Amino acid sequence: MASNALHAEDDGLICPDVGGWAEDKYRLLALYDELFSTGMKHKWDQRVYIDLYSGAGYSRIRGTKTVLKGSPIIALAVTDPFDKYIFCEEGPELMAALKARVERVAPRAHATFVLGNCDTAINEICAAIPKGSSNNKVLSLCVVDPFDFGIKFETLRRLSAVFVDFVVLLAIGMDANRNYANYVEGHSTKIDETLGNTQWRERWKAEGIRRSDFRPFLATEFSMSMA
Ligand SMILES: C[S@@+](CC[C@H](N)C(=O)[O-])C[C@H]1O[C@@H](n2cnc3c(N)ncnc32)[C@H](O)[C@@H]1O
Repeated sequence: MASNALHAEDDGLICPDVGGWAEDKYRLLALYDELFSTGMKHKWDQRVYIDLYSGAGYSRIRGTKTVLKGSPIIALAVTDPFDKYIFCEEGPELMAALKARVERVAPRAHATFVLGNCDTAINEICAAIPKGSSNNKVLSLCVVDPFDFGIKFETLRRLSAVFVDFVVLLAIGMDANRNYANYVEGHSTKIDETLGNTQWRERWKAEGIRRSDFRPFLATEFSMSMA
């Protein structure tokens, strides 16, 4: 996707700051949304887009005037729009801005907004997915883009009761480095909850590898959990 297609005009609504790297993330996400929504159009009766950590719809590259479209707005702009959109966001002000932007850029989109924590609101999110059947095949794309390695694997497991493809941003870097002692030697259960198991601790000890290998180790563990 051309970089200007990812840019937006400042509309005066709340616009959280992001790092410049976010533009690469959005370019990849836009490409995947496009491939998925068009590629699956004739294979499934309904395609559903689920964003667990939606944000405000727009963000601004820190220290600049450049406004970027966020994951929800990018998903609304695909060539073959999804049949349904489900947006979850826990910040009330961010959610209000997102709703205003969605109504402005895609007034006809079939969208459900879930205000709250995606882990505690998972029943509401699942209930918003159209029921599939043999003559109404439903496929979802779930985008998971948290600030840190704070996903709860149980939430993804719940969603995987239906046909769903996940795009997950593993925000491992800073989190795992800063909190290594707490996660590995302390009492934090955060990684257990993200990976959906506690056996990773044994595997990490058994590997006897360097602390600098913790990030790739977690990425591999997460892939194993997803498999
Ligand atoms: C990295 S931002 C996501 C940005 C968004 N995907 C985009 O492209 O602009 C993470 C967002 O998730 C929200 N959030 C954090 N924890 C959450 C949770 N457990 N459930 C729902 N939203 C959450 C934050 O308020 C923030 O807006």
